[in-house]
Amino acid sequence: MADNDVKELTTNDAPVKARGLEGVIALESELSSIDGQKGELVYRGYDIHDLAEGACFEEVVHLLWNGGLPTQEELDTLRDELRGERALPAPVMDILRNAPDDAHPMAVLRTAVSSLALYDGEADTMNPQANRRKAARILAQIPTIIASFDRLRKGLDPVSPLNDGSMAHNFLYMLNGEEPGEAAERIFDVCLVLHADHGLNASTFTGRVIGSTLSDMYSAVSGSIGALKGPLHGGANREVMRMLLEIDEQGADPAEYVRKKLDDGERVMGFGHRVYKTMDPRAAILRDMVKELSEEEGEMKWYDYSMAILEAMREDKGIDPNVDFFSASTYYQLGLDPDLFTPIFALSRTAGWTAHLLEQWQDNRLIRPRAEYVGAENQTFVPLADR
Ligand code: CMC
Repeated sequence: MADNDVKELTTNDAPVKARGLEGVIALESELSSIDGQKGELVYRGYDIHDLAEGACFEEVVHLLWNGGLPTQEELDTLRDELRGERALPAPVMDILRNAPDDAHPMAVLRTAVSSLALYDGEADTMNPQANRRKAARILAQIPTIIASFDRLRKGLDPVSPLNDGSMAHNFLYMLNGEEPGEAAERIFDVCLVLHADHGLNASTFTGRVIGSTLSDMYSAVSGSIGALKGPLHGGANREVMRMLLEIDEQGADPAEYVRKKLDDGERVMGFGHRVYKTMDPRAAILRDMVKELSEEEGEMKWYDYSMAILEAMREDKGIDPNVDFFSASTYYQLGLDPDLFTPIFALSRTAGWTAHLLEQWQDNRLIRPRAEYVGAENQTFVPLADR
């Protein structure tokens, strides 16, 4: 059997053991495909480079949800739908007001998304139309949650969402209280396009596992947010920025800094990938974008540190950067707080999570692997009073 051949197991076959489900194909999906050897990422047949260059985030959302790129009329309809869902129910805004200022923004986002279900009369209506409407609601409300919490924790009033403009424009407006420049909006929009979907990554898998029990979309997206929060997944972008800031504060040589980390047996965040065995194509696009942005702003420090780390990692470990490595300096150069990087990843990935749920429910099968039992055997039960 060739390496890439897939053996389909039947219920009569012996169980297969793959730690971390590495290499296991758990389901079929039409949404995105990754060639880990060539470093290619494709959404529904469209190469990520072409989408990053030519499509806006809402076009990608349409592509993922509906199966094809939209006409202008379809795009306008989707945009109107999303704009109409941006405001939060008042009790959810109260949750944000009452959250501690130092709460992890991903914990706040997870809590707020979960609470949205309480105010959606369709939360448990499982027909495809209702699920598609919920996908739009959740996607439209997440930017409002992130921006409102950020302002509240800084002692500022939340900014009401605009009734027009793209998701990228409106998010930056709600965050900063002023309309973003064209360049910032475009760069942010490309970041949203790049993060929208990525095969059966951990957070998407989490969402599909929850969805496969026929639980509701809010439960599934809340679970996905929890999975994305971890530093081995989306939480890595925040850790990358922590590392860059620490290098700066210490006046350290970036290459020596990471070599010390490696010597200490630590992982360097923003490097390595379960599927890519070469450069993540999203990292390459972000690298070029942050270089341009840094040159325009006359601030090359973060880009230079990043490139020095990249060289050291390649030389010492032969490991390439993933999407989280250059998204960190891109967001930082856009003036975004490091602890918002992962929530922003969630904002974009909600497009993919919800598309995967819609796909899961088209032909649902409970996702239920097994564990190999390696615990104690044949224990003699001793009643509580005798222990
Ligand atoms: N730094 C140092 N060494 C690494 C790293 C890293 N970031 N990533 C992998 N390695 C080494 C690892 O120590 C192992 O070496 P050895 O064979 O000598 O023990 C080898 O590479 C293979 O690693 P692995 O743990 O088997 O690989 P994996 O497929 O389980 O891990 C990963 C994938 C993403 C968890 C891992 O690369 C990692 O921890 N990276 C840092 C966290 C990170 O950047 N996460 C973002 C992932 S991509 C975007 C996203 O999903 O958000």
